[in-house]
Amino acid sequence: MKFLLVAALVACPTLAVFALAPSAPAALQEGGKGRGEKHEEHGPLEERMHAMEDAVRALRRSLRDPAKSADSLASLGKLQTDLIAAKSETPRMAAKVPDAERAKFVADYRREMIHMLELSIAVEKAVLDGKQESALAAFEELRGLEDPAHARFTEEEH
Ligand code: HEM
Repeated sequence: MKFLLVAALVACPTLAVFALAPSAPAALQEGGKGRGEKHEEHGPLEERMHAMEDAVRALRRSLRDPAKSADSLASLGKLQTDLIAAKSETPRMAAKVPDAERAKFVADYRREMIHMLELSIAVEKAVLDGKQESALAAFEELRGLEDPAHARFTEEEH
């Protein structure tokens, strides 16, 4: 019986396609949908934010140890690259802001990103100068931007 089925599938490729049809398209559909959803969930800005979060987390550890200044400088470089890319993006929340206020909203967002970039440069200069206390102080200021910025520029907080 099994032999007959295999023989039939080999003899007729069209039949083989139908025989496999119920599972194959379902699997393809699932894979395609999964990727599409992920892309929707993580826009380009959110991707950058997650990368920034990783760099900030690494800095929290490396800045405590002056012997790890090379690590700190590498993380600062990554953070700055992401900040520069992120500041040209538009927060998703902009779509919900009234038309008359949208340009100011996006400009304010960009200003705040520049503020964070400036603080990252202050941390970098202090690391280069071997001034650990100044580096930590500027870094704390940088981290302090996150919550108020998210309250203002993301929908989750509203
Ligand atoms: C230490 C600083 C920061 C970290 C670690 C950080 C991290 C993150 C993370 C992980 C997300 C993804 C969503 C979530 O899990 O909450 C996010 C979203 C977001 N963040 Fe930040 N963030 C920081 C600072 C800022 C600043 C300064 C701004 C504004 C100038 C900002 C604006 C946003 C916006 C607008 C989103 C939503 C993304 C979108 O609209 O597509 N973040 N952030």
